[in-house]
Amino acid sequence: MTTPDTATPRSPAAPPGLPRARGPLSESILAVLAGDGAPLPGADAVRRSDPYGDDLHLLLYVLYELHYRGFAGVDERLEWDPALLGVRAAAEDAFLDALRRDSGPGGRDVAEAVDALQLEPVGDDGHSVTHHLQREGELWQLREYAAVRSLYHLKEADPHLWVVPRLRGRAKAAMVAVEFDEFGAGRAEDIHAQLFADLMTDLGLDARYGRYLDAAPAQALATVNLMSLFGLHRRLRGALVGHFATVEITSPPGSRRLAQALRRAGAGSAAQRFYDEHVEADAVHEQVVRHEVIGGLLEDEPGLAADIVLGIEATGHLEDLLGDHLLAAWREGHTALRAPLTPESLA
Ligand SMILES: [Fe+2]
Ligand SMILES: [Fe+2]
Repeated sequence: MTTPDTATPRSPAAPPGLPRARGPLSESILAVLAGDGAPLPGADAVRRSDPYGDDLHLLLYVLYELHYRGFAGVDERLEWDPALLGVRAAAEDAFLDALRRDSGPGGRDVAEAVDALQLEPVGDDGHSVTHHLQREGELWQLREYAAVRSLYHLKEADPHLWVVPRLRGRAKAAMVAVEFDEFGAGRAEDIHAQLFADLMTDLGLDARYGRYLDAAPAQALATVNLMSLFGLHRRLRGALVGHFATVEITSPPGSRRLAQALRRAGAGSAAQRFYDEHVEADAVHEQVVRHEVIGGLLEDEPGLAADIVLGIEATGHLEDLLGDHLLAAWREGHTALRAPLTPESLA
């Protein structure tokens, strides 16, 4: 019934252990997942908490994780527990309200929002993590960046598959074509999540799934929760496509800078390969996503334009919050993680 019986604990297939709580909401959810029979937090308390804060985002993260790989020792039936889904809905409302309020001007002009993604800032505008890492990133910062990003990249492309049954025609065919590449085009060793695991190993990090959840700041959890939120709800299919488009379109220039940063820091070839691969593959993916996935979806459902714009703007907004957090910490010379990497937290 629980996940741990199906895989040996050190195997790459083993689910991670439960993380540490970050406040009263996540504490009670984690106690329930651990089978302690604790009372669940009330919807009002969830809605009142900071929509960008550690406590709310850890709560959302662990509840979403039940739909991915789960946690060792947690009953798999809790994935569809009505009471937990009720708490999750309250947290999603708080998060989504904040995103609608803070992410950007909104509107229905998808072409304008996509064009804005393709405008590279001229040089470093002082807010770009990839510019910073390319120019002066130190090895410890590249390690922290990879540890933080591992929450995202080790489930890269997974939540985007949830949209496939909700699409048809051109949008569906193109979405699956891009996802086929993300999942290694038939080769397990080329799955992008695997390429990222290889990068982590090259950097001396522990590449096990979920390993750096406790270390990751709220801003990093929010970027992962965003794609889970959009992926799990059919009503947010437009936003999911907007998120996917943003990832694919902004990837080539950022990946080029990160490949250079890794080269300069003397990282191994596997570390560079992940970003080299994305420079090449995403140059094609961005065209397919823009013209076929977005174009096809809008042809079928023009009423989703505002949601696609929301997906694009919310992704940019949360990336900015994460980038600002990382750069502020690094400029002061201290860790951007909740606890610095130590010899024990490395591989
Ligand atoms: Fe990828
Ligand atoms: Fe891609």
